[in-house]
Amino acid sequence: MVKHIPVLFEEVLEYLAVKPGGLYVDATLGGAGHTQGILARGGRVIGLDQDPEAVKRALEMRLPGLTVVKSNFRNLERVLDELGVGQVEGILADLGLSSFHLEDPRRGFSYAQEGPLDMRMGEEGPTAEEVVNTLSQEELYRILKEYGEEPRAFAIAKAIVEARRQRPIRTTKELAEIVRKAVGFRKAGHPARKTFQALRIYVNDELGALGALLQAAQSRLAPGGRLVVISFHSLEDRIVKRFLKESSLRILTKKPVVPSAMEVRANPRARSAKLRAAEKGVA
Ligand SMILES: C[S@@+](CC[C@H](N)C(=O)[O-])C[C@H]1O[C@@H](n2cnc3c(N)ncnc32)[C@H](O)[C@@H]1O
Repeated sequence: MVKHIPVLFEEVLEYLAVKPGGLYVDATLGGAGHTQGILARGGRVIGLDQDPEAVKRALEMRLPGLTVVKSNFRNLERVLDELGVGQVEGILADLGLSSFHLEDPRRGFSYAQEGPLDMRMGEEGPTAEEVVNTLSQEELYRILKEYGEEPRAFAIAKAIVEARRQRPIRTTKELAEIVRKAVGFRKAGHPARKTFQALRIYVNDELGALGALLQAAQSRLAPGGRLVVISFHSLEDRIVKRFLKESSLRILTKKPVVPSAMEVRANPRARSAKLRAAEKGVA
């Protein structure tokens, strides 16, 4: 059975500084690992996830003190308004995919497993299949360059457009093979890793959603409230770092907190995690 191991579990709880009876937002509920830590310390949680399967699993857990909401976290302010909540003591975002996504070939996130080219975390927006088969070569190039930081973006975009002229690209392995042929052998990682990352970020508008969440957090944290964000790639981390610098929040992590070697050994998905935390001033 697939299990999602929460990353930087103790560190998240330390930086959130959970107050018994306090109300917290877990913007990325996933397998509810971090949420259970907050609940165990006496906090109450509003947990958001845009993924219907994550929401269903969380509801089945029937955790006392947890309110589950199916929503993109970009709509956090609206969600809180609808629940009649003004401010909260803390907001957590543990970005990206869960192990449930990565290990389910039907979701199309993995270049290593055959599946439909979907890559949507929620139910909205275009699928990766629509993106690779309809966008212009220039648009594909820009996505690969910007969101994948892919040095061979030009060659890959060209190869995708050439391949789809023969027939539409439908599966993860078809796309991975097109990229592998265009790029050739790569020492570090699978040749299609960056392409898949780029498409995933684009399909889910991950950076746009993160920006909106950070803005919402700034206005919805109670005085003394904490924001904790875990990112998994440099594009996200850069956005969080810049935002915190320019925001009115007080930064608690001068340098990002990263997992120990022991944690990475036990949970390789933690490898690229970076945690940043900040506090709303007490006016
Ligand atoms: C890394 S997992 C979180 C795991 C969780 N902290 C735990 O301990 O089990 C990220 C989750 O956030 C969700 N997610 C990612 N981006 C989102 C967004 N913009 N809005 C709502 N949920 C999002 C994903 O569907 C996924 O379930």
